[in-house]
Amino acid sequence: MTKRSYACIGLQNPKSPENVGSVMRAAGCYGVNSVFYTGTRYDTAKPFYTDTQKIYEELPLIGVDDLKTIIPVGCVPVAVDLIEGAKPLPSYKHPARAFYIFGPEDGTLKKDITDFCSETIYVPTEGCMNLAAAVNVILYDRLAKGDNFSHHQDELRVKPSAAKKKEEECREAE
Ligand SMILES: C[S@@+](CC[C@H](N)C(=O)[O-])C[C@H]1O[C@@H](n2cnc3c(N)ncnc32)[C@H](O)[C@@H]1O
Repeated sequence: MTKRSYACIGLQNPKSPENVGSVMRAAGCYGVNSVFYTGTRYDTAKPFYTDTQKIYEELPLIGVDDLKTIIPVGCVPVAVDLIEGAKPLPSYKHPARAFYIFGPEDGTLKKDITDFCSETIYVPTEGCMNLAAAVNVILYDRLAKGDNFSHHQDELRVKPSAAKKKEEECREAE
């Protein structure tokens, strides 16, 4: 079956394995296809403390030199950060095929990223969220807006037994 939609995540120079582990877990939960990251900070602190479901064994986590050069075919690159001029998430319509790019824990996405992104979006919070929290919010919003963008959730709707199995796996992994 051809996938109508596709979501990938790009992390610009992430620092903590806890955050990357939590991002992988969110990616697994929301049916993201792959996660890319740049920089070397994550490589030096690699253990996956929070990815208790070992999503990284099923879902590609790929280190790359430059996020711009690996935009998956047909995906719209979307920068996600609290940046002036960004569009607020509540009124945002997600592209069917999206590549969401997030900044590091200790910085903000720079022009070299926002320039090649088609859009920049932000969540109207008081101050910034934790990186992994921001990823969860964006992916939940994509799901909640009801354009059937999450295949994973579609699968669970069609097969209630699959949802039950996932729940059991979660309990075992905790
Ligand atoms: C912890 S925040 C960045 C920290 C902060 N910019 C600093 O100077 O230390 C890490 C990333 O999470 C995302 N993020 C956090 N809060 C956000 C929000 N309210 N809207 C959009 N993205 C957010 C962005 O991608 C950001 O670069």
